[in-house]
Amino acid sequence: MLRNDQLDTWDRDNFFHPSTHLSDFAKGHAPQRIVTGGTGCHIEDRDGNRLLDAFAGLYCVNVGYGRTEIADAIATQAHELAYYHAYVGHGTEASITLAKMVMDRAPDHMSKVYFGLGGSDANETNVKIVWYYNNILGRPGKKKIISRWRGYHGSGLMTGSLTGLALFHKQFDLPMPQVLHTVAPDYFRRDDLAQSEAGFVAHCAAELEALIDREGADTIAAFIAEPMLGTGGIVPPPEGYWAAIQPILEKHDILLIADEVVCGFGRLGHAFGSDRYGLKPDLMTIAKGLTSAYAPLSGSIVSDRVWQVLENGTEEHGPFGHGWTYSAHPIGAAAGVANLRLIDQLGLTENAGRVGAYLNDRMQAALADHPHVGDVRGDGMLCAVEFVADKDARVFYDPADKVGPRVAAALLEHGVIGRAMPQGDILGFAPPLCLTKAEADEIVDKTTRAVASVLGA
Ligand SMILES: Cc1ncc(COP(=O)(O)O)c(C=O)c1O
Repeated sequence: MLRNDQLDTWDRDNFFHPSTHLSDFAKGHAPQRIVTGGTGCHIEDRDGNRLLDAFAGLYCVNVGYGRTEIADAIATQAHELAYYHAYVGHGTEASITLAKMVMDRAPDHMSKVYFGLGGSDANETNVKIVWYYNNILGRPGKKKIISRWRGYHGSGLMTGSLTGLALFHKQFDLPMPQVLHTVAPDYFRRDDLAQSEAGFVAHCAAELEALIDREGADTIAAFIAEPMLGTGGIVPPPEGYWAAIQPILEKHDILLIADEVVCGFGRLGHAFGSDRYGLKPDLMTIAKGLTSAYAPLSGSIVSDRVWQVLENGTEEHGPFGHGWTYSAHPIGAAAGVANLRLIDQLGLTENAGRVGAYLNDRMQAALADHPHVGDVRGDGMLCAVEFVADKDARVFYDPADKVGPRVAAALLEHGVIGRAMPQGDILGFAPPLCLTKAEADEIVDKTTRAVASVLGA
């Protein structure tokens, strides 16, 4: 292959990278990697490195890299019809087939799927649907959305506001006033160390009730949540959390938006995180695993209850005035169809449950007793290790020490990509769902070595 030896410079001179320290990058002080290929759980870069990608890109390449079935489906679609829009009743065989495949997997009470491009726009769509819903029902004041601190729902204006992480708010004038945040369902980071897990769940429920009382239930439209926290730290919900939260939402007629962008399509060993944790959502957000990121595509899945109101709304007000040029893009849809078929043919949901449990058990056995590991946790093909300065007193490190990023960098030296999560010293793993036990062993063994090199054995 021809090698353009100016790419490094072109990159620094022209490319505005997302979520990047712009000044360090421009000066050549921040990492730069030019990725050239990938197969299975590995990527290759231009310098000849082959790395085990234990974060599946951004927890999205669920079927692994280099799947020719999906590449072929994309090529066939591009040759036949690269694009047509989905407005005013237009569709393609791919988009209609994918809608059927998604709804066959979704919980029975869900009705239709609206296709977008990425997780952020799908959450924007869900917020607009919720607002429209309450306008049609004659409740124009019921509009606020409750999210959780440490939730991640995207980085648009509304979705960046829903995201409960400081980095996504500061200097952007966010969050917007329609968004409220409540307690992060993160037992390890509870304020009161003496609190039991059940006591913490009761605290989360009481705080939610108190917020609703303060604001007035007639001002609150929806509660948005990942079934299990992702970018906020990869944290399974405390035992009994969803059983405590859902009745409060029902009592106050607050819709539940389950953000399944990470959990959906098998990552937790179930079709959706909602199946895993017993959620009964009114809306669901899907992206990432829908196409395993072979092409951009997302979706907003609407329940029967919400759909009925939307339909009635259009009888009164005309067409639903919300759409993207690329809604249900045929290439994304073709990728989605091939991807979901592959997930089924290869039994990847089951593999995520089985090998994910193995990865989590081994990580726990290897690191839980380390003096600077405060918590090892996960579920399905999600796993995290959180570092602390003092284990008994649960004292966190000063963020300036960059312990999480340093461990991630040490792990990279061993050829494994983990992710230093954005808030806290947390090393996250979300490998492709096709991970083998041998690859899980490699992740754990190399993580153990990386931790030892930064924090001692
Ligand atoms: C739970 C969740 N929701 C939404 C998003 C936003 O998706 P996108 O980056 O495709 O806009 C993400 C991205 O990581 C996510 O993890």
